[in-house]
Amino acid sequence: MKLTISTRLTIWYSLLLMLAMLLFGVLSFMLIANELYNEQYNILNENAEEISEFIRFRNDTLDVDYIVHEAGELNLKQNGIFFEVWADSLGRIFQSRNFPPFLITSFSMPPEGSQRRVADETGTVFHIFTYTAGPVQPREDIVFKVRVGQSVLYVQKLIEHIRVLLLMLAPLVLLLAGVGGWMLARRSLRPVAEITQAAREMSLYHLDKRLPEPEQNDEIRQLVRTFNAMMERIQTGVERIQRFTADASHELRTPLTILRGEIEVALRRQRQQKEYIETLHSSLGEIRWMEKIVNDLLLLSHADAGELTLQKKPVDLATLLRECVRSHQRQAAEKNITVHFQPPPGSIECFVDADRMRQVVANLLDNAVKYTPAGGDIDVTLQRANGRIELAFSDTGIGIPEKDLPFVFDRFYRVDKSRRREQHSSGLGLAICKWIVEAHGGDIDITSKEGVGTTVTIVLPGG
Ligand SMILES: Nc1ncnc2c1ncn2[C@@H]1O[C@H](COP(=O)(O)OP(=O)(O)OP(=O)(O)O)[C@@H](O)[C@H]1O
Ligand SMILES: [Mg+2]
Repeated sequence: MKLTISTRLTIWYSLLLMLAMLLFGVLSFMLIANELYNEQYNILNENAEEISEFIRFRNDTLDVDYIVHEAGELNLKQNGIFFEVWADSLGRIFQSRNFPPFLITSFSMPPEGSQRRVADETGTVFHIFTYTAGPVQPREDIVFKVRVGQSVLYVQKLIEHIRVLLLMLAPLVLLLAGVGGWMLARRSLRPVAEITQAAREMSLYHLDKRLPEPEQNDEIRQLVRTFNAMMERIQTGVERIQRFTADASHELRTPLTILRGEIEVALRRQRQQKEYIETLHSSLGEIRWMEKIVNDLLLLSHADAGELTLQKKPVDLATLLRECVRSHQRQAAEKNITVHFQPPPGSIECFVDADRMRQVVANLLDNAVKYTPAGGDIDVTLQRANGRIELAFSDTGIGIPEKDLPFVFDRFYRVDKSRRREQHSSGLGLAICKWIVEAHGGDIDITSKEGVGTTVTIVLPGG
């Protein structure tokens, strides 16, 4: 059977309460009973002492009337208290009329000053207290004893009342506490039910839903906050994937359309071999571009999935940069752009993945050449600074407007969307650079002024 948290809480709570009440009830009951018995003896003791004061002689004879009269004033009968007075030489001097008829007593029973539980012949139990009176003038030789008693039933009845009261109250308290506890548990867990309902309504297509935060700052609020924060992350992630997929498809659709158009045109009628070769060249260009996009996308998605591992080893960055600059020399020379690179004396070794670093440098040089008008300059620098290694790529190109600058590292982001084709730009280059540099524990930064030039700086942990 599946029990809800509130039911389980109530059961546990009631069981604990029952145990506590049982313990408390039994203990207090025992204490009260004990106290009541003690109290009974105290009363008997007090009465015995008082009665002993009434023993006196008149004209050398014992004044029994006086005892009877004075003791009567004490109203002992009402409480069922009986008494008797003994003298060692004279025997029993007086016995109250309510003295139990079947209770057999003597002068010496029980020992002086003591209290005792005795039963009469019928089995009724009494508590009796025997008190030895002080010497009474003028007959100091006589020893008087006052014996006072009361049936235990008096106390037992009281104890019984308390027992019944406790037994009746306990289930009532338990019931009230149980119902109260259950209601309280349900009330405090109500937000959980709401969260469950809300979570049920959420789906991949309704990720914008958020749970209302409870007013009270408690565990539930923490839960709701955590849940909402998690939904925020999921929504961002899903949106990114959706945007990425849409952008990727869009990006590939353009070269595909071009390819299809060119082939269709070529096939429309019989053509000369030269024309076919032209079409094939142009198609190859589109295919190369698609290949680049697909490779870039693959790299980024591997990176996202955490499947891309770096093959790090000590690499001389000066050599690496020199090689990359050389391989871009032709591309730059076509636009009459000069690339300056003056490597620092000695080697600058760094623990990196050489292929990935080459990719970064190639992307940055490619950008610098692409976005710098003919006759411009590109400056590449490499240096150690504060225990770190700094690479910088500056150009005298068109620059990037300030409003676009924060987004250039985003995937598929291009400042001039229309120039995609002739520039062969997919907007993935900087995103890839950023990922690779950060995977190396480094930082990449871009500064730019429109119409003046752009500088990309990479800082790598030195070593
Ligand atoms: N050196 C630069 N000078 C001016 N603009 C730049 C420079 N580098 C990047 N940009 C701008 O930032 C955008 C993003 O650059 P990124 O390298 O990511 O993409 P891309 O060069 O357009 O395409 P890809 O590198 O994928 O071929 C570019 O489209 C361009 O507008
Ligand atoms: Mg680029």
